Amino acid sequence: MTEERRPLIEIQKLTKRFSLRGNELTVLRELDLSIFAGDRIAIMGASGAGKSTLLQIIGTLDSPSSGRVLFDGEDVFGRSSAALARFRNEQIGFVFQFHHLLPEFTALENVMLPGLIGRKSRAESEKRAEELLELVGLQSRMHHQPGELSGGEQQRVAISRALFMKPRMLLTDEPTGNLDLKTGAGIHAILRDLNEQTGVTVIVVTHDPRLADEMPIRLLVDDGKLLPFAKGDARVHGRVPENLLHHDPLDSRAARGPAADDEVAAELE
Ligand SMILES: Nc1ncnc2c1ncn2[C@@H]1O[C@H](COP(=O)(O)OP(=O)(O)OP(=O)(O)O)[C@@H](O)[C@H]1O
Ligand SMILES: [Mg+2]
Repeated sequence: MTEERRPLIEIQKLTKRFSLRGNELTVLRELDLSIFAGDRIAIMGASGAGKSTLLQIIGTLDSPSSGRVLFDGEDVFGRSSAALARFRNEQIGFVFQFHHLLPEFTALENVMLPGLIGRKSRAESEKRAEELLELVGLQSRMHHQPGELSGGEQQRVAISRALFMKPRMLLTDEPTGNLDLKTGAGIHAILRDLNEQTGVTVIVVTHDPRLADEMPIRLLVDDGKLLPFAKGDARVHGRVPENLLHHDPLDSRAARGPAADDEVAAELE
């Protein structure tokens, strides 16, 4: 098996600068990264290092100052803003530290919302939302409003909502930041299971090394570049030893065994 696989996302010489009142701040400097479909990646680094900036650019919510982001080989920032919005809506799910659930709607209605906005029928949206809430273990909380759910449960609702459109990528920015460690570990376990069962690519920004330890690939944003958090973590270029550049995510997947639940995988295909 020597066939070369193309990355899902290829970041090439990504530089991001902010200009503020005449001052230029370079946050990311000619950063390179390849992300393969099915990868599960933790991004760590000091406060202000540029983790959220990087995640926003991968999610096409912000654009590079220079450099390119290729998605399936195509420069996504070359698209019209309407095409980019459609792409983002269909391919990318976001989960943030504060979940942004609508307080007056139930868990089920919050998860259904992307379907209703996308003009799917109510019955179809409801069915998919129920399946997703079951997948994250919330079948008995579907009719609770966010204020009637625990923090971890609210975050699971947010994950279900992010998965509604069957995105290829789930981007999460400190999804466990305001949860205790045990609840946070539960969220990470759900992200791991979703990744293993459905193949969705997962990128998690986290400050907690204990949670990041669970991730097959751990990267550190440092001085505008990416470094592997530990030996064997990464495929990034730059200051990374050559032997770290050729990690194949399929190796670790093979070691973990086949996906446990083919039915779920087929459903979320
Ligand atoms: N719109 C903006 N205009 C100017 N500077 C910005 C803007 N957004 C972010 N920055 C600066 O860029 C740097 C990186 O910000 P970013 O939010 O990516 O950090 P982070 O690694 O996510 O930090 P944290 O762990 O605190 O969330 C910070 O120094 C921040 O002040
Ligand atoms: Mg941040």
